[in-house]
Amino acid sequence: MTEVTLETIRQYVAGCKRCGLAAGRTHAVPGEGCPTARLMCIGEGPGYHEDRLGRPFVGPSGQLLDKILAAAGFSRQTNVFIANIVKCRPPANRDPLPEERQACLPLLLKQIEIVNPAIIVLLGATALKGLINPSAHITQLRGQWIEWQGRLVIPTFHPSALLRNPQLKRPVWEDFKHVIDKYRQLVNPSHHSDYH
Ligand code: URA
Repeated sequence: MTEVTLETIRQYVAGCKRCGLAAGRTHAVPGEGCPTARLMCIGEGPGYHEDRLGRPFVGPSGQLLDKILAAAGFSRQTNVFIANIVKCRPPANRDPLPEERQACLPLLLKQIEIVNPAIIVLLGATALKGLINPSAHITQLRGQWIEWQGRLVIPTFHPSALLRNPQLKRPVWEDFKHVIDKYRQLVNPSHHSDYH
């Protein structure tokens, strides 16, 4: 049997028809970043810009995510892998349906297994519900560590929520400070952040 790699997943996703989202996509968005990242960020699904380019978090919320990551000493070029709960854009950016999340989840689980992050940041309610528990609430669980399949997961607000409500920037930065601390503890004691 051929080995499943990030590349074979990327190729599969490009032609995937496991759910109805395939019909409306320009490009599937498999995810990108450091293939051996010990930190993974998981969002909801591609929006307009991501669908156009086939890359995750490249629109306004992606620019904000990159800024937060940079402040915390992370980047997709060096030490983070970025993925989404669904790999194709839902029409008019609606939330992905439970059956769409279910159809896509095995691909994300495989990516997690291959990249093998120690820490996973869940960006927003859809990521929390999609990976951990469909009835979980982001407002209740954000900032709390969850042990999940031998990894540590922390939910926080989605960057697009921060763009709508800048007051959420402070709690999200608090959450990222926990991520930095945990990363120093588990991965790299000399991990550098300019701000923490
Ligand atoms: N929002 C997401 O959840 N994911 C992306 O890739 C872009 C925007």
